[in-house]
Amino acid sequence: MSLLTAAAHSTEADGSAAGVTVAGWGTALPARRVTNHDLTQHLETSDAWIVDRSGIRERRWVGPGESTGPLSVAAARAALARAGLAATDLDVIVVATTTPEKPLPSTAALVAAELGTTAGAFDLNAACAGFVYSLATASALVSSGVARTALLVGADTMTSIIDPGDRATAVLFGDGAAALVLTGGPDDLGQPPPPGAPGLVASDLVGDPAGVDLLVVPAGGSARPASAATVAAGDHYLRMDGREVFRRAVRAAEASIVRTLARAGCTVDDVALFVPHQANARITDAVLARTGLAADRTSSTIDRYGNTSAASIPLALAEAASAGTVAPGDLVLMCGFGAGLTVGTALWRWGTPTQFDKEAT
Ligand code: UT7
Repeated sequence: MSLLTAAAHSTEADGSAAGVTVAGWGTALPARRVTNHDLTQHLETSDAWIVDRSGIRERRWVGPGESTGPLSVAAARAALARAGLAATDLDVIVVATTTPEKPLPSTAALVAAELGTTAGAFDLNAACAGFVYSLATASALVSSGVARTALLVGADTMTSIIDPGDRATAVLFGDGAAALVLTGGPDDLGQPPPPGAPGLVASDLVGDPAGVDLLVVPAGGSARPASAATVAAGDHYLRMDGREVFRRAVRAAEASIVRTLARAGCTVDDVALFVPHQANARITDAVLARTGLAADRTSSTIDRYGNTSAASIPLALAEAASAGTVAPGDLVLMCGFGAGLTVGTALWRWGTPTQFDKEAT
């Protein structure tokens, strides 16, 4: 595997990690585009309602051979290629998903097998906040030296749990995946990171337990295993109180962002790029209005992909990175929220892989 040296990487006294770089990123989207007009063929809805209430114009839905596993693998391969690394360079794989390839084994283990690596692998379920939770987790593994190279995937096939006849949810969600490769680690002397080192600057992982019942798939777990009765009742579909989720998500995202920036000693003006969970353009607008974050420095894919759950933040981040929107040293703010209600915010300093000496071993 590649040995990455010559960067200062350690864990700060306040627990925030530093000295971790996004070495590569990649995305994978199903080929099939489903427009709002397509949905009006079988749902009582309209393009005007969907655009007005959510900002969504189209989304991608999986077809034959496309599911969370293959999408994750495709995104991972693209991220590794961009990083110039092989799958055998990986020490750990984290897949953030609510819609795994199978109940067992983990999607991450299936990705590892497909990529041909013995890296440790596990899934993380924090719903639509999953990517931020995975970033905090993978970054901690790398900055502490547990792993030197981590693959982080956000992937969801929301159509596998969407009731196609429920217009309140069927118009909102899409399928997709995106991956990042993180590299770095503590230096040999355990020196603190220099000011402005890349990686996690501050984070905020919180919950709103009063909203635990607002977004649920009632059956298919240990409490109510799948049976003919649960299938007949439609209890494997996602049920959502959208209006209440909306209300709570806006407030929780605002509070989480304020806490994260305060921990970092930063203001909204220091944020070069804001990458919110892409749930609803109106939620994003409300968060911008409440926090003062700049609209022209906010990444948006909601019109093209809808809500892709754990994939939404990395998809939007990867698109921004590919467009050259982020430069080394920039602060990227990410905020996700979803079932649980689970909320997570991460302030990340963008780096460049060239800050590291890559030595073949
Ligand atoms: O990923 C994180 C979790 N999810 C979210 O963050 C979603 C958060 N919630 C939302 O994005 C919004 O609440 C929705 C987009 C789901 C709904 O927008 P809304 O403005 O809150 O609408 P509503 O639920 O209050 O419904 C307004 C009306 C209702 O009709 P009545 O009761 O006023 O007659 C709904 O039945 O719109 C109706 N409606 C629709 N009409 C046309 C609901 N879905 C549709 C639809 N097309 N697809």
